[in-house]
Amino acid sequence: METPAVLFVCLGNICRSPLAEAAFRKAAQDAGIDVEIDSAGTAGYHIGSPPDPRSVEEAANHGIDISGYAGRQLSAQDFDRFTHIFAMDHQNLKNIEALRPAGSTTHVSLLMDLVPGREGAAIADPYYDGEEQFEATWEDVDAAAQALAGRLKG
Ligand code: 4NP
Repeated sequence: METPAVLFVCLGNICRSPLAEAAFRKAAQDAGIDVEIDSAGTAGYHIGSPPDPRSVEEAANHGIDISGYAGRQLSAQDFDRFTHIFAMDHQNLKNIEALRPAGSTTHVSLLMDLVPGREGAAIADPYYDGEEQFEATWEDVDAAAQALAGRLKG
């Protein structure tokens, strides 16, 4: 089988998708899965920026250092590089699909579609909320990361 390559996408690539990337890097490592992993934003506001300090702190609470991650914007080339692209919410899902080149077979879906009982759910944007919302974000992305690792381990 082709080595899977998984991209997590939110709006800014500084709050939700870096946490999804971190949770899945850990889950894949724990499960011994060979997979390429990255994250990106549909918007270009935070290109080159480190994650939001609240995301850095939340990841650190789970033993993961994401302070070296750098924001980048999703591009059409990502459809060549990744077998799976996971969107944090419905608007991101639409914006991802709008960039899909003709003929691309990359699987694109909501991240929470991976979690039984949470199909169709969005991961709420925590940017304008308090730190407790980042904990809720972690719980969501970690549930999806565990489900994805289980699926890829098959
Ligand atoms: P993210 O959160 O999409 O989870 O990274 C946001 C980050 C920045 C902005 C919005 C959402 N912003 O408007 O700058």
